[in-house]
Amino acid sequence: METISTVAGLRACVRAWKRDGARVGVVPTMGALHEGHLSLVQAARARMDRVIATVFVNPMQFDNVGDLETYPRTLGQDARLLASTGVDVLYAPTAVEMYPPGFATRIAVAGAAAGLCGGARPGHFDGVATVVCKLFMQTLADCAFFGEKDFQQVQVIRRMVADLDLPIEIVACPTRREADGLARSSRNRRLTPVARQAAAVLPRVLAACARDIAMGTEVAAALGSAAEQLADAGFAPVDYIELRAEADLAPLSALLPGTPTRLLAAAWLGDVRLIDNMPVPPPEDYFNKQLINNDKSS
Ligand code: PAF
Repeated sequence: METISTVAGLRACVRAWKRDGARVGVVPTMGALHEGHLSLVQAARARMDRVIATVFVNPMQFDNVGDLETYPRTLGQDARLLASTGVDVLYAPTAVEMYPPGFATRIAVAGAAAGLCGGARPGHFDGVATVVCKLFMQTLADCAFFGEKDFQQVQVIRRMVADLDLPIEIVACPTRREADGLARSSRNRRLTPVARQAAAVLPRVLAACARDIAMGTEVAAALGSAAEQLADAGFAPVDYIELRAEADLAPLSALLPGTPTRLLAAAWLGDVRLIDNMPVPPPEDYFNKQLINNDKSS
């Protein structure tokens, strides 16, 4: 695996691949890699001739300086993991390479970016869209691979790609979970042992809420009860728990026939903000596993 940190170096490498007719995939990340990221690399490896993984902690998408400063940075370990998963190039630009002096352009996304994490983190998705667009232009990739854990992010990026006619295909890969159901995330390593135990309540509550809505419970009542259960488990505050149409993330107060629907939530445990989402109805196998785990622990 080669590590490249400049746009010029990356372009030269990708141009040579493309002259040989290679199809190029990119997995954009902010590092602190875990099994979820590696599953994206594996998906890219299975479909593409060449794979680039990017590691760049993007200051433009942080609304909170403390969050940016404490974001885990583990480039050496990330490089070892990526090399062992068969990545061809690790692209790790500096902040100055990405945003040179005088940088003054920003992509503003509406629609799918409104509310949810966009409401709780003003400017976050503009920062994501801007850096992701730059990464697409810098890598000249044919396909980009993202995790569904960041469901709103995926829909925002799909919208941007469609609106700006970017010649790239977006591939969304399923959320990877720990044995107790917690979605894998770089932030999980910041949870205290007590908070880590409580964190597993989030996917359980989401799965039960998604099932209740699918079985006919009124949406507002199901969401209210889910928020209470999260609060009881120690989540404070619960930023949101909402039902949305998958395609454009329009808010829904009831299921609509023929409209794929998702339940999305974000909530804090101490100073760690966790997000998760599930389709409605929840995946059968996931819910069955939770029932089995609950039986074992009762
Ligand atoms: O999901 C992330 O890690 C980031 O938001 C991304 C897509 C790499 C952009 O900085």
